[in-house]
Amino acid sequence: MKTILSNIALLALMAAVLVLADPLGLIRGADKYPSGSISRAEGLQNWQTFYAVASHPRCVNCHADSRPMWSGPSYGATRPHGMNVQGGESRSGAETLPCSTCHAALPAQNPEANRLPHTAPRIADAWQMAPREAAWFGRSSREICEQLKDPARNGDRTIAEVAAHIGHDLVLRWAWAPGGTREPAPHSLAETQDALLKWGAAGTPCPG
Ligand code: HEC
Ligand code: HEC
Repeated sequence: MKTILSNIALLALMAAVLVLADPLGLIRGADKYPSGSISRAEGLQNWQTFYAVASHPRCVNCHADSRPMWSGPSYGATRPHGMNVQGGESRSGAETLPCSTCHAALPAQNPEANRLPHTAPRIADAWQMAPREAAWFGRSSREICEQLKDPARNGDRTIAEVAAHIGHDLVLRWAWAPGGTREPAPHSLAETQDALLKWGAAGTPCPG
């Protein structure tokens, strides 16, 4: 009896570890939509869902060319980041003024820390611009689509890996709960990942 009980406890523990290691079920869900199971039209619709997220200020402000951007209703006019902030080759301002000077990392993810409007957003991770290959600001839906499916520009990832990656990213947690007067990115993290997986299963079609 004792062994049965401890076996049950062990199984429960293993199940809990699996769920915790993969909270959104992405590792297990990578083959949720087998390749070809989604039509091209549905794939394009799902790309549109992802594009609505990717082109939102909470994403493009960091996914820009050489300087981060200030755009979105909380900024009024769209303009490059104030104080002549530059991403530099490091993408973290290391060559000039490091992002961490103002966007200091928090010990833990805490939306309360970003409650005051117009303060520099802070997350439990290093704040820096996205790689140049992933610059989206001012680009069309088609251009971003071509970039994201190109292994040379997406960190050599499959689409399932891109979807899993955005699930692990603390910046993305912030983008959906930015605090203060900043509007959150549309949809949700889970919907965004699902859209990417469906777009991938449809063969990554891009709008014309
Ligand atoms: C604080 C700046 C910042 C913000 C805001 C941000 N990102 Fe990123 N993003 C990064 C950095 C840095 C990387 C590179 C990290 C890596 O690849 O490990 C990255 C990489 C990515 C990638 C990997 C694929 C690729 O093409 O390289 C995706 C997808 C992505 N971000 C999506 C988003 C989305 C969607 C949002 C908004 C909901 C967002 N990001 C907001 C900084 C940011
Ligand atoms: C001198 C301080 C300072 C430095 C250095 C700095 N920032 Fe900022 N950053 C701010 C402030 C303040 C805001 C908010 C401005 C507002 O809301 O009016 C901000 C906002 C942002 C935003 C917009 C977030 C959003 O979507 O609302 C991004 C993106 C950003 N910073 C990226 C960076 C990056 C990347 C670096 C380094 C290359 C950097 N910043 C360096 C002070 C700084």
